[in-house]
Amino acid sequence: MIETGLAYAKINISLDIISKMDNGYHNLKTIMQSVSLCDEITIECNSGTGSGIGGSSGNDVRVVDAGRSFLPNDERNIVVKAAKAFFTYTGITGYSLKISVKKNIPVCAGLGGGSADGACVLRLLNNILGTNLDRDTMIKLGSTVGSDVPFCIFGGTMLGEGRGEILSELSPMPSCYIVICKPLFNFSTPELFKRINCKKIKIRPDTDGIITALSGNNIQGVARRLYNVFEDFLPRGKSDIEEIKYKLLDNDALGAVMTGSGPTVLGVFDDKSQALRACDELKKDYEETYLSEPVGKINFTYRSI
Ligand code: C5P
Repeated sequence: MIETGLAYAKINISLDIISKMDNGYHNLKTIMQSVSLCDEITIECNSGTGSGIGGSSGNDVRVVDAGRSFLPNDERNIVVKAAKAFFTYTGITGYSLKISVKKNIPVCAGLGGGSADGACVLRLLNNILGTNLDRDTMIKLGSTVGSDVPFCIFGGTMLGEGRGEILSELSPMPSCYIVICKPLFNFSTPELFKRINCKKIKIRPDTDGIITALSGNNIQGVARRLYNVFEDFLPRGKSDIEEIKYKLLDNDALGAVMTGSGPTVLGVFDDKSQALRACDELKKDYEETYLSEPVGKINFTYRSI
């Protein structure tokens, strides 16, 4: 059986870091949104195992196309981690998977591209193998694969707390256009978290204000509250982030912010032609610039209890 799924990128429209946990992870309070920029995952699933990765655990999982030449095609690839986590949890054996990833989401960008791919594998396997796992199990499985995976399984508009696995559904993001721009450099997520001193965070996002604006379908109210505390802890000399924000705002964005642990910056527009113009303007300097739109909850079958 062959099945393909879309793995939508995520943006953080607000991101607050509340505290450091004893296990080294950070307690977050973040509003996440799926956007139309997406990877495509295809899984060919056959019964009978071969000799690929995971063969010893009773299933054979191979990455036939990782989507980028610099991405690994072994256990280090999050799609393999997700498949193995699924098989370990369900105890299902005797299958051979060939996974192909068509990558459109920039890598190491703060857009949850890897998490979206891992989440998509969990959704696809739940469907192909008819396991009909419940919501909490999907979340638990997802969080063993990566902190952003639980959100990426369900998508839409959500408040994420804890590591990101405590999820509450919010009113959908009002319809708008989102210009996404990734500068050439990358940040390491663990390194950036290490720079955070929670006691030194002076300004925090107005999370409640955004939630109210979402309920009122008020895009201006959302856009003017975009805020990410990571921006106060960036290494020096990364002025592209400010530069991109100014370019977006100069080109009529209602608001602009860095997403996740960066370095990608997004701008929110209520007018498509303005968004297109901003996109064209930024593309002159930053190849990885995209026009996208918010995407609602992902449609797939799981047990709600
Ligand atoms: O869970 P994930 O592998 O995506 O996290 C990558 C790294 O980011 C972790 O190893 C940790 O250093 C940091 N992190 C954190 N707090 C979170 C999420 C991630 O400190 N809530």
